[in-house]
Order: sequence, then C-alpha cells, then structure tokens
Amino acid sequence: MLLIGAEIAIDHSPWCVEDSLQELALLADTAGLEVVGSVAQKLTHPFPKFFIGPGKVREVAALREQLNYDLIIFDDELTPGQIRNLEKELNTAVLDRTALILDIFAQHARTHEGRLQVELAQYEYLLPRLRRQWSHLERQAGTSGGTSAGGVVGLRGPGETQLEIDRRLIDRRIAWLKEQLANVHRHRELYRKRRRRNGIPVIALVGYTNAGKSTLLNALSGADVHTEDQLFATLDPTTRQIELPGGQQVLLTDTVGFIQKLPTQLVAAFRATLEEISEANLLLHVLDITHPNAQEQAQTVEMTLAELGVTNKPILTVLNKVDSITGVDEAEVGCLAEELGMPSDYIAVSAQRAWGLETLLTRVEAALAEMMAPLDALIPYNRNDLVALWHERGLVECEEFEAEGTHIQGRLPSALTSQFAHFANGKPKKPGSK
Ligand code: GTP
Repeated sequence: MLLIGAEIAIDHSPWCVEDSLQELALLADTAGLEVVGSVAQKLTHPFPKFFIGPGKVREVAALREQLNYDLIIFDDELTPGQIRNLEKELNTAVLDRTALILDIFAQHARTHEGRLQVELAQYEYLLPRLRRQWSHLERQAGTSGGTSAGGVVGLRGPGETQLEIDRRLIDRRIAWLKEQLANVHRHRELYRKRRRRNGIPVIALVGYTNAGKSTLLNALSGADVHTEDQLFATLDPTTRQIELPGGQQVLLTDTVGFIQKLPTQLVAAFRATLEEISEANLLLHVLDITHPNAQEQAQTVEMTLAELGVTNKPILTVLNKVDSITGVDEAEVGCLAEELGMPSDYIAVSAQRAWGLETLLTRVEAALAEMMAPLDALIPYNRNDLVALWHERGLVECEEFEAEGTHIQGRLPSALTSQFAHFANGKPKKPGSK
C-alpha cells in the first residue's frame, strides 16, 4: 500500500508533511496494512480534480511497477469526486485518512454504545461515497487488499453486507442508529444528574492518541483498562473512582485520543467522550514528552478542544513517559518542557513506572479545592454522616472535636453546601432557623 501526503500552505498546520506521513504509516500498521512507500507534495492549494497535481499523479502511476502497490491512502480527506477520478486514473483503490481511522475505530470499539457510534460515523462517511465503495469492494473482494474482518479497509463492519442494501436502507439504518444512541444518551444523562447531585468531581484525561492516558488511569486507580502501543486503543470512555491524598473521592475518566486531521464532526460523533469532557470539573492533558512531535501533538489537542467548544476549563498539563528520557533528571525534563513551550506548572510523571503520581494527585486536589466553596461548620455529633460526607467529597483543612460537635473548616463542592447550611459559620443552628 502506498501513502500520499501533501503540505498545503493555506492550512497553516503545525505538522510537516513528512511527520504526518509517518503517523499515517503507523495508522496503516495499526489497521494491519503493509506500507511499501510514500510520496509527498507541497502545494499552495489542493487541485480540485486529483487533490495532488497532475504531474504527481503521473509519478504515482509510474511507481506502480516498482512498488507493486494495490491500495493508495491519502493523508487528507478527499472529496468523493477526487477519489473517483484517482481510482479511474490510477486503476487502483484509493482511501483517505478518515476512512482508515474509521476502520481502526471499528476494530477497537468495545461497548454497545461505542459500536453504535462507529457504525453511525461509518455510514455517514460512506453515504456520499457509496457508489465508489461498492465498485471498490467488488474489485477488491478476495484480493490481498482485504483485512482480517473479511471486509476491505475503510469498510469493516457495515461494509460486509453492503452489496445487497441500497442507499434508502442505509438512510433507515442511520435513523435507527441515531434513535438507539439517543436512548443511550438519555440513560447517561440520568446517571450524570445523579453524579452531579452527589457532588463527586469528575476529572477527564484528554490527550493525543498513544500519550498514555489509559496507562495513567490504570496507575492511578489500580484498574485494568486495556492499554496498547497502538493508536486509538481506547474508544469508549472508562470511568473509575479514586481517592485523593486528603480522602476526597473523585471520578477519573479516560476519553478517546485526538489526532491531527481527524474531522471534528467525527470526534463529535463520539458524543460520550465529548459529554465526559464538557461535564468534567478538571481536565488532565496527558502528553508524551518523548514523542518527536510532542509540540505538534499538544497544539492539535488544544485546537481540537477549542473546535469542540471546550473552553475555560481548568487544565493541568501532565508530561508523561519521563522514564524514557536519558538520565531522567528534573533539569532535563524542565529544559525539554521549556523547549516545547509547555506551561511552567506542568507535572512530570511516568504512568508506567508510577513516578510522580503523588504530586499529580496533590495538584489535582489543590485545583479542585480552588473550585470548591470555603465553609466553616459545627456539626452536632448526631450528624456524623455529614462529617463523613465532608471527608469523602470535600477538603478538611482543620477539624476539632468540641463539646457541641465536630468543628470543621475546609471546602466543599457547591452542590453539597446546602446540606450544611444549618451548621454553617461554626454555630449550630436549630433546623428551620435562619
Ligand atoms: P489511545 O487509546 O490511543 O488514546 O492511547 P492512550 O493515550 O490511552 O495510551 P496507552 O495508555 O494505551 O499507552 C500507549 C503506549 O505508551 C503503551 O505502549 C504504553 O505502555 C506506553 N506508555 C504509557 N505510559 C508510559 C510511560 O510512562 N512510560 C513509557 N515508557 N511508556 C508508556
């Protein structure tokens, strides 16, 4: 399979075409494809007919004999027309980055909701390209271009039965999938409402694919979440309850990794992830500090969050995999972080070796404390349930046992302060009094 990438001047992407193609090769590898070569072109604008220039198309055609490729993957999203023109001109199957990512998503979705989401995203992507995909499937059937699931890359899942269904049936299927997802979302919303009432803060791990989010979730929660040296190992949000050093309980949630050139509608299709992020009180941006494109990855995550409308959320930057830095000395991490333009209040960790996790949790605690309301209350001994609740959900800064009850000074999530209103300001009040 041959990879083709272009650096488009008007895109102002932080990525150079070579790095982007290297990432595309990793994606292809994740999908189980063998890369035989790659071709790059720098352009001011994409060409309407073939995306790349006609001269480049001839160059690609000439490479056929030498490389014997049977599939071409473009690093950018192509229009259905461009795909048709390229397939006709080059007489080979052509896919784009989006189709490849969708294929990987299909391989990795595990939960019912995740599978529904991937199927919906695949059909929405396929619909305008339907005619091409059908002939493509016919031509590719039984050839080496196929992948493990019996389909062709870009078609895994819904591709299997497509030959017999028509556009109208797909439309109906899309409507059905949307209905199913709406039901799942209603359930989720109920769960979230309960969570909000309980006042348990939610912390979402966000970051580029393969940054180590799942490994960090495992390390912090002792859970066994699937981790893999593969892109997009996590598709469905996984949530775990963990305890901060002061005893406060929080929910930590893993989300789908971001990647450059992933159409935002596609990220948004993973509504569960999006909801987790927008619902979170705090985001931990996990970054693989050892990756040669760490800076571009960080910028991509920031851009994706902005495109998703997630702004004004408190974010802590977590520089992961510091164990892989030679010497692993603090000064070296500091220099690297500065070189990469990281915020100075980053936290350096190794999720794999459980380094820096205490510091991370302490910083999380401090960030959450800033968001909680300060409170001073004298809680009578017959309301020890409230004392326990404070310890579990809030931050106890000072606790004294006095004659009338437990005197606590500290902070509590605003959702819970009303329960303590009668005992506020260090003076027990009679229920009903103001
Ligand atoms: P996606 O599911 O693609 O979003 O990935 P992720 O961000 O959840 O990454 P994951 O936890 O699956 O880790 C990706 C790879 O990085 C795995 O091979 C991990 O073993 C490795 N990794 C994670 N943390 C560390 C670390 O602290 N040090 C080193 N050396 N490797 C790590």
